[in-house]
Amino acid sequence: MRLVLIHIDRLLMVEKSPREMVAGTEMEQVDSLKAAWLVIEDGLITGFGEGEPTLQKDDEVLDCGGGMVMPAFCDSHTHLVYAGSREKEYEDKIRGMSYEEIARRGGGILNSAALLSATSEQELFEQSLPRAIEIIASGTGAVEIKSGYGLNTRDEVKMLRVIRRLGEETALTVKSTFLGAHAFPGAYKSNPDRYVKLVVEEMIPAVASEQLADYIDVFCDRGFFTVEQTRTILEAGAGYGLVPKIHANELDFSGGVQVGVACGARSVDHLEFVGEEEIRVLKKSRTMPTLLPGASLFLGMSYAPARKLIDAGLPVALASDYNPGSSPSGNMELVMSLGIMQLRMLPHEVLNAVTLNGAYAMGVEKTHGSVAVGKTASLIITKPMPSFGFMPYAYGTSQIGKIILNGKIMPAL
Ligand code: NIG
Ligand code: FE
Repeated sequence: MRLVLIHIDRLLMVEKSPREMVAGTEMEQVDSLKAAWLVIEDGLITGFGEGEPTLQKDDEVLDCGGGMVMPAFCDSHTHLVYAGSREKEYEDKIRGMSYEEIARRGGGILNSAALLSATSEQELFEQSLPRAIEIIASGTGAVEIKSGYGLNTRDEVKMLRVIRRLGEETALTVKSTFLGAHAFPGAYKSNPDRYVKLVVEEMIPAVASEQLADYIDVFCDRGFFTVEQTRTILEAGAGYGLVPKIHANELDFSGGVQVGVACGARSVDHLEFVGEEEIRVLKKSRTMPTLLPGASLFLGMSYAPARKLIDAGLPVALASDYNPGSSPSGNMELVMSLGIMQLRMLPHEVLNAVTLNGAYAMGVEKTHGSVAVGKTASLIITKPMPSFGFMPYAYGTSQIGKIILNGKIMPAL
């Protein structure tokens, strides 16, 4: 049976011939239809246009009531599978400790790893499922989820199995990333290369043998993994078909962008520290610069120079970084608002960054990220709005009316 959406004030992000991403001045362009309709069949978009649709006898009709329709968000960087929470550490931060100081004394990622180690796979799934349901209700249709709170083979595999199960048991389209190289466990502090060896020789083969990951990530930054260690791990992952998507330049000019691009990364993420050299390297690549303004907001750190990247002709994706330490929120409407308020991006640039470019950053651009015939019908129906820019502008107040994922209307929370 067809589902026909009618009375759409504006149908946003329509494409006749789908592109894989948009860069530079193209990011300001959003094609849209006025007074539109859209047809969904078998979970796919099969038609759309302006004016009145020709309805068939069995059609289910959904009146959008003058709201806008846009692609569901593609959140290309999250760590939403984790155990417990870390709000106590945030108190230490308020009292003056930095993220790096908290990490050095065994807090931060290592704190989450200890909690996760003591949590069964079933319990980890039960703790993570509400977060998956919550992001669906806030408009996310496709999400990338990382491991990285296991830091040993058993617990990394446990996380990745939970990630796979979230993809199987929710309406989310899930891409999975192995991030064994997220931090050095305490026992390896004096010999970090031994941990790199464990990642390369034990974890990667174990992950690959169960086909648990699409991507491989390394936290390449000051105090975490060096450029050489990152290269070693990414090259080992490549041997098993794992494509890099890495954390780079959050804390310093780490060389992470360069090594990521050299290893063919799909995306390099964070990028609070970006200079001419990083831009030059990115310009020659097909790597998506991905910015995570929620982490800058939560940690009170500098924001990535989005304008500099876009004005240099580069694409930019925005993602939530949903995790217990640096960004405990998967709210992509808030990410869009930070895009306009802190990154000085224009509303249409932000829309491209959370849909099509986010889709590219996680390798789902052929099926998600825009409104095109043949793409998955994962869509947001907004409340009536004066213009699209109202959505990021009205920060803190959701403009989402209904969510459709894979052609099905999602229940409200
Ligand atoms: O993307 N930067 C590294 N990893 C996460 C934070 C992880 C944590 O603190 O738990 C991030 O910010
Ligand atoms: Fe992250």
